[in-house]
Amino acid sequence: MARIAVVGLGPVGLASGLAFALQGHAVVGIDVDTDRTGAIARGAPPFYEDGLEEALRAGLKQGRFSVTDRIGTAVPTADYVFLCVGTPSRPDGSMDDRYLQQAARDVAAALPPEGAPVVVVKSTVIPGTTDAVVRPPLEASGRPFHLAMNPEFLREGRAWEDATRPDRIVVGANGPEARTRMRALYADAGCPVVETDIRTAEMIKYATNAFLATKVAFANELANLCQAFGVGYDEVIRAVTLDPRINPRFLVPGVGFGGSCFPKDVRALVAAGRDRGVAPPLLEAVLAQNEVQYLRAIDLLEAELGDVRGMRIALLGLAFKGGTDDLRESRAIPLARTLIAKGAAVVGYDPLANDGFARLVPEAACVASLEQALRGADGCILQAEWPELTKLTAADFLRSMRRPVVVDGRRILDPAKMQGIRFRRIG
Ligand code: UGA
Repeated sequence: MARIAVVGLGPVGLASGLAFALQGHAVVGIDVDTDRTGAIARGAPPFYEDGLEEALRAGLKQGRFSVTDRIGTAVPTADYVFLCVGTPSRPDGSMDDRYLQQAARDVAAALPPEGAPVVVVKSTVIPGTTDAVVRPPLEASGRPFHLAMNPEFLREGRAWEDATRPDRIVVGANGPEARTRMRALYADAGCPVVETDIRTAEMIKYATNAFLATKVAFANELANLCQAFGVGYDEVIRAVTLDPRINPRFLVPGVGFGGSCFPKDVRALVAAGRDRGVAPPLLEAVLAQNEVQYLRAIDLLEAELGDVRGMRIALLGLAFKGGTDDLRESRAIPLARTLIAKGAAVVGYDPLANDGFARLVPEAACVASLEQALRGADGCILQAEWPELTKLTAADFLRSMRRPVVVDGRRILDPAKMQGIRFRRIG
C-alpha cells in the first residue's frame, strides 16, 4: 500500500485517485476549489462520470480516499504526488502552464526533509515541460524528490472504466529510483506498461490525441467527398477498414470533434511545433477542417428547409459528446449560434448539459425533455450520441415535429428505419 497525493480533482485526478484508492492505496485528493472539495467530501462528484459517484462513496466509506484543499497536509507524508491540473489553451493556442507552475511551487513548498516522494506529472504537457516547469521549483526547495511523467488516456464519460481497465500505461522517468517505484505502483496493472524517458512520455500523449483527431477529420472530409460524389460513406469505410492496416474506430463522421482535449492538444502541438520552427501543415489542416465541419449539418438542414429564418430548430445533445455534461468546445455552440444568426429559433435539449448551455448561448431556449424540444419543430439536428437519442424512431419525429426534417450530425440513427421523414446525415 502506498500513500498517494493527487493534486487537481478534475475528471482525471478524481478518477485516477479513486482507482488507486480502490486498489488499496491511501489516497488524498487536493484541490484549491473548496466548492469542489466540499462536494467530493460529501460523495458528490462535481461533474458527471458514469460509475464515479459509486466509486467515490466506496472510497470515502472504506477510508481510503479523503480530500483537502491544503496541499501541505498531504504532500509531506506521500510516497507519490500526482499532478493532475489542467493545461488549457492560451488565446494563441499554445499551452497555458500556469496551474502546473503553481502546483509545482505548492508541492515544492510542502516537500518533507526526507522520504523523497515521486512527483508524477499526469497533466498533458508539451515535451520538455516536466523538466522546464516542474523540476526547477522542486530542485530549488533543496528537498529530495524523484520525478516521473505518466500521461492519462481517459475518455470523458468513460473515465472510470478507463482508469480501472487501462489498455496501456506509459511511464516516463529519467532516474532508476523513479522508474523502480513507478514499476511497483503499476505492478498489477494487467496491461502493457511502457517505460520510457520523461520527454517521450509527454510526446506519446500528444501523438495519440493528434492521431485520433486526424482520423476524425479524415472521416469528416471523406464523408463530405462521398456526399459530393453521391457515394455512401458506410459502404466505402466498411471495405476500406477490411484492410488490416486501417482500424475502423474513430472514423465516424459528423459535425466535428469537441471536448477539452482534441482541440486544445492539437492546437498546443501546432503552436509548440511552430515555436521550434516546425509548422505542421497536416495538423493545421485538421484544425481548419474541424472549425467548419459543423456547417455541413446546417447545409443539409437548409437543403431540406430552404431559408431557416423564423423556423424552430431542435438541437438535440448539447454536450460535446454523449455520456458527459462537458460543453467545452461542443459543436452544439457554433451550431446554435449560426442558426440563431440566420434568424432561426433554437430549442436545445440535453439530458445533463442544459443549464450550462443556457449560460453559454442564452439566445437559445433549453427545455427539459426530448419531446418538448421536438414539439412543433421545423427541423432537428442531432449533435451527441446519448442513448436517449439513439433510440429515437421515425414515429417520434412524426408525432411531435411540424415538419419532420432530421439531420443526424453523429450518425446514430439507422436511415433504413427513418421512413416517412426527411432524414439526412453527413456522408
Ligand atoms: C479524448 C481521447 O479519446 C482520450 O483517449 C484522451 O485521454 C482524452 O481525449 C484526453 O486527452 O484527456 P475525449 O475528449 O473524452 O477523449 O473524447 P473522445 O471520445 O475521444 O471524442 C472527442 C470528440 O471526437 C467528440 O466530440 C466526438 O464526438 C468526436 N468523434 C470521436 C467523432 O466525431 N468521430 C469519432 O469517430 C470519434
